Amino acid sequence: MSRFHPLTVTDIARDTHDSVVVTLTPENEEAFRFTQGQYLTFRRDFEGQELRRSYSICAGLDDGALRVGIKRVEGGAFSTWANTALKPGDVLEAMPPQGKFYTPLAPEEGRHYLMFAAGSGITPILSIIRTVLTREPEARVTLVYANRRIASIMFRGELEDLKDQYLSRLSVLHILGQDAQEIELFTGRLDTAKLDKLFTQWIDLTGVHTAFICGPEALMQTIAGVLRDHGLNDAQIKYELFGAAQPGRAAKPAATTRDNTGKTCALSVTLDGTTRNLELPMDGTTVLEAALGANLDAPFSCTAGVCSTCRAKVLEGAAEMAVNHALEDYEVRAGYVLTCQCTPISDRLVLSYDT
Ligand code: FES
Repeated sequence: MSRFHPLTVTDIARDTHDSVVVTLTPENEEAFRFTQGQYLTFRRDFEGQELRRSYSICAGLDDGALRVGIKRVEGGAFSTWANTALKPGDVLEAMPPQGKFYTPLAPEEGRHYLMFAAGSGITPILSIIRTVLTREPEARVTLVYANRRIASIMFRGELEDLKDQYLSRLSVLHILGQDAQEIELFTGRLDTAKLDKLFTQWIDLTGVHTAFICGPEALMQTIAGVLRDHGLNDAQIKYELFGAAQPGRAAKPAATTRDNTGKTCALSVTLDGTTRNLELPMDGTTVLEAALGANLDAPFSCTAGVCSTCRAKVLEGAAEMAVNHALEDYEVRAGYVLTCQCTPISDRLVLSYDT
């Protein structure tokens, strides 16, 4: 059974000069019920090559619509096509919503959520903000949103409207890299010094329940580091990485010119209730490459260790990941791996996508 489903584009709204908000109606509504902060993985053929790309849902749970924000990336085939050629009535193919960039809702608690977004990192953050404001009536949200210029701020009007609607519960600090603002602290790079000042002069971290960060990796590390210095622990900080680390290309077939020692691993893969036994060369070929090479419909999107679409669990044997930007420590301890990054280090490897 295909894990991709058709969705009809019902509306496209231009948000900034290089981003659009796409409203979608899935044929299978049940499969596309989402949790705030999740993303959809789309696939499309470009000149014979299948591209897969993940875009975060920007709608809240009570918006009654499924919407994603797509910012055009320099040289990005999918995002350029979505920004220039996609139109209402077109049908896209996507996997059901995925991702764990959220905390369970707690309507009875008056939590304070701190949000950090850079550029198009606002999309999942907006979904969380919209949801929390309606579903957690006592919650407060502080958003720190970094952009180059005013003109490049995604969802600027929507954020203004939300601020007006939830005056005492939502505050938004725009940090602009290039456009000067009245308050000097809000202009320039969001670096350690600026974050230190924000946390001492503007944002009281006492009582912050969770900090959500979505942006490029280096910035996320900087923000997380300063949050820790100011007393937050790891469990209070949630990340969603996006950006250049996601090439959006199809996975390559198993390589034939690698460092081949001739050693192989007996790989057993369970997918959709069916188990296949494969021989995996121990030459750097990943589990995902081997699975796709054997025509298994293994799930993947970024192939860069970012999105976790390719997650599976090791049931027997051992494997190591080259890169992991997606799995949390407890998942790794439980045996989960990103198959796009994972190579065997034992002669036998038993792995399941179904757990
Ligand atoms: Fe995205 Fe493996 S396909 S992490």
